[in-house]
This record gives sequence, structure tokens and C-alpha cells, in this order.
Amino acid sequence: MEICRTKAEMRAVVRGWRRKGETIAVVPTMGYLHEGHLSLVRKAKAEADRVVTTIFVNPTQFGPNEDLDTYPRDEARDQALLEQDAVDAVFMPSVEEMYGAGGDTYVEVPGLSAILQGALRPGHFRGVSTVVSKLFNIVTPDIAVFGEKDYQQLVLIKQMVRDLDAPLKIIGHPTVREADGLAMSSRNVRLSSEQRKEALALSQSLNEAEQLAKGAPQITDLEAAVRGSLSDAPLGKVESVDIRDAETLAELGGALDRPAVILLAVRFGTVLLIDQRVVSPAT
Ligand code: PAF
Repeated sequence: MEICRTKAEMRAVVRGWRRKGETIAVVPTMGYLHEGHLSLVRKAKAEADRVVTTIFVNPTQFGPNEDLDTYPRDEARDQALLEQDAVDAVFMPSVEEMYGAGGDTYVEVPGLSAILQGALRPGHFRGVSTVVSKLFNIVTPDIAVFGEKDYQQLVLIKQMVRDLDAPLKIIGHPTVREADGLAMSSRNVRLSSEQRKEALALSQSLNEAEQLAKGAPQITDLEAAVRGSLSDAPLGKVESVDIRDAETLAELGGALDRPAVILLAVRFGTVLLIDQRVVSPAT
């Protein structure tokens, strides 16, 4: 596996592959890899000749009071996991290498950046769309694979790629869960054992909502049912429950009449957990 710490090293590796006519898939991550990331890597391997994983804890997507400093990092373990999964190259630049001095350009998808998680985390999605554009320009992949767990991020990146005519395909991949249903996240390790038990309420509330959705309920009733189920976790502070059009994230009202995504954000102490599920009325 090639370890590239500079843009020049990454570009040289990509040039070599391109000369042989090989296709490239990228899996952008912030490291501290878990089974969820590795499932994205496997999907990428199935879709292209070469796979690059990027590991970069991107400071521009963290707000001033967010967990940039305590975000878990373990470079050696990440490298070992990627070797096992036969990734071809890992791009792990420093902040200085990535941003240098005096950067003044952003990529922004203003509509999708301002709603839902974006309203709770001002500047977050501008940081994401900017760094993802930079990674696409450095790696020049044919395909990029993102988890559906960060659903708004996935919808936003698809929109950005469409709007900018970026020459690559975005693939979304389903959320990977622990055996008991908790969505995998690098942040799960920071939950206390009590919080960890209660965090199960997220996936349980989504399971219940999926069943309820089949009967085409009123959106307000569906939301009330999800909130009711989350109240089984008193250590969790529900930051948001949103039910939106699954394709566009537009608001929905009345009875459920199309695929909708339920997006949850629940805070346990300093740890913000998110989860999502696409639900549909029975046809
Ligand atoms: O989903 C993530 O881990 C990050 O938001 C990403 C896409 C790697 C950009 O920093």
C-alpha cells in the first residue's frame, strides 16, 4: 500500500495507474476506521481497479465548540486495517499540506448547507464540500463512495458534483451497524456504558418508524412516534428529528406518500450521534 503524505506523492501514484488505463475509486474518511469505513472500501474495490482511502481530520468542518481536538485518531491502526483490506493507497496529509497558508476559496451548496444538521452546525457543510472538492482534485477519481449514515452529506455531495459537472460518480453505501443495531461511528468509543445502552434507542425508533410508515401515516404522527420512542433514552438530548423527501431533503407535510428519510441527531454528553432510515408507504 502506498502511503502518500503530500499532494505531489498522491498525484504521482495516480499518474502511474492512469498510464496503465486503470480506474480509481476514492473513499474519503477522517480516520479511526471501523467496519463501516471498511465496507465502503470493499464497495469501492468492487467498482474500480484501484482504491484510495483518504484520512484527514478536516478542521474547517468543525465549529469552534466542537470536538476537533478530541476527535479520535490512530494512524498505525488505520494503516494496518487498510493493508488488510488491500487498499492501494492511503492519502494522509497534514493540515498544512492540505490548506497551506492563505487559502481563500470555498465550495458551498448554500441551500442544502443551511438546513437540518447545517442549521445546527453553521459552516460545517461548507467545510465538507470544500475539502471533498480538494480531495477530488488531488485524487481525480472515477468514483467516490460515501456512507448513507451521513445522509445529508451524501445528498449535498451528489448535488455539488451535478452542479459543477465534476467528472466522477458518487455511490452511497448503506449504514453498517453493531450486532445490536447501533450505527457504527468513530465517536461510539466515547460513550459511557450507560450511554452506550441508551444509544440503542436511535436504531430502535427507526425500526418502529419503518413499520409505521407502511400504513402511510401523517408525517406529524410519524415524528411523534419517533420522539416517543427516543424518550426511552433519558441520557440522550434529542437535537433533531426530521422527516424529509428522501431525494431532495425537501420538507414533507400531510400523509406519507413517497419515500422519506428520517434523520436523527441525539446528543449523549459531548457525543453527537446521528442515524437515518429511508422509509416508504406500502405500495
Ligand atoms: O464523512 C466524513 O468523514 C467527512 O465529512 C469527509 C467526507 C471525509 C470530509 O472530511
